[in-house]
Amino acid sequence: MAIEFARHIQRIPSYPVASGYDLGSDVAMLASNESPFGPLPQVVEAAHTAAAKANRYPDPSYSTLRKALSARYDLPSSRIALGHGSCDILLAAGRALLEPGAEVVYAWPSFSEYPHLAPAAGARAVEVPLDESDRHDLDAMATEVTVATRLVLVCNPNNPTSTALPLDEVEAFLQKVPRHVCVILDEAYCEFALTLGDPFASVELLNRWPNLVVLRTFSKVYGLAGLRVGYALCGSAEFGTAVDQVRQPFYLTSAAQAAATEALKHQDAVEDRVTRTIAARLGLEDGVRGLGLWLADSEANFVWIRLPDADEPAEAEAAIVESLKQHGVLVRAGASLGRPGALRVTVGTPDENERFVHALAHAL
Ligand SMILES: Cc1ncc(COP(=O)(O)O)c(C=O)c1O
Repeated sequence: MAIEFARHIQRIPSYPVASGYDLGSDVAMLASNESPFGPLPQVVEAAHTAAAKANRYPDPSYSTLRKALSARYDLPSSRIALGHGSCDILLAAGRALLEPGAEVVYAWPSFSEYPHLAPAAGARAVEVPLDESDRHDLDAMATEVTVATRLVLVCNPNNPTSTALPLDEVEAFLQKVPRHVCVILDEAYCEFALTLGDPFASVELLNRWPNLVVLRTFSKVYGLAGLRVGYALCGSAEFGTAVDQVRQPFYLTSAAQAAATEALKHQDAVEDRVTRTIAARLGLEDGVRGLGLWLADSEANFVWIRLPDADEPAEAEAAIVESLKQHGVLVRAGASLGRPGALRVTVGTPDENERFVHALAHAL
């Protein structure tokens, strides 16, 4: 007899995991918006040193990393939440804020983890279509906020479409949302977004909006996706307390805490990597435009490409993705991200990007 699971499990979508991790080293991994740069040697060393003491549990108050983030963003430690990747904080926010009868509002297509939150809590998801430029339609989102809304997610820059909204538009939106509704501004890619200014600009908003949570990650610009560290800068301390109440105490390993703390000390290297990534993105965009294809205005470390019209967009796109894979290039099909007829491609090294453009020309 089969195991009987909770009924809500049937409504939770499976995360569209990237494949190809078993294909060996001669593959351009452009499917998961990771950094093409490995962690700095000092960061690897810090993780290594911490791993040598792995007989002890990790510091459950995460004090060193918390202090480092507190100093960097000039926020009290109590207003910083940490997580096993920022996904962990998102899922915990869903558990802490949502319940049957409650609603979460977010744009669609957006980050694939968002659709997990409502069904996991028996709540209702309100998905608001992006506008015609593949940006969040904040006016439309504001009209969907009701007495039932507990949580609003704004992904800026948006994954998968790479577009960003200026912060004054975000603040105008915050003015329309009641103060008891938590707004998570998911800024996983903010460091690549020229429209957003520096990574401190949105942190300013926290002083005016206690219901705001700015969600960040070490997975992208810091190149630590494999160690799983995310953080949230919060308008008020209640958010961190609530997300900690619904999780196990040890969500960050000692190695992850040490690596993230060390990574924060090397901002010059981070800025250099951002500059190189943006330069590589411009080259990638030129190559794709050269094939006559339309791209969204990217403000991230990935691009969003519309494929030529086809009678069966999902099938045509799947054939292209398979052809790219045969050429050793892994990208994401739009169908798996909520919009068939598109590709999401991570900016890799200049060589990888060139390889992608050649393979795409062949596939088309
Ligand atoms: C918009 C967005 N938010 C959050 C995350 C989660 O990142 P992590 O859990 O690795 O911190 C991602 C990862 O792709 C993302 O694209």
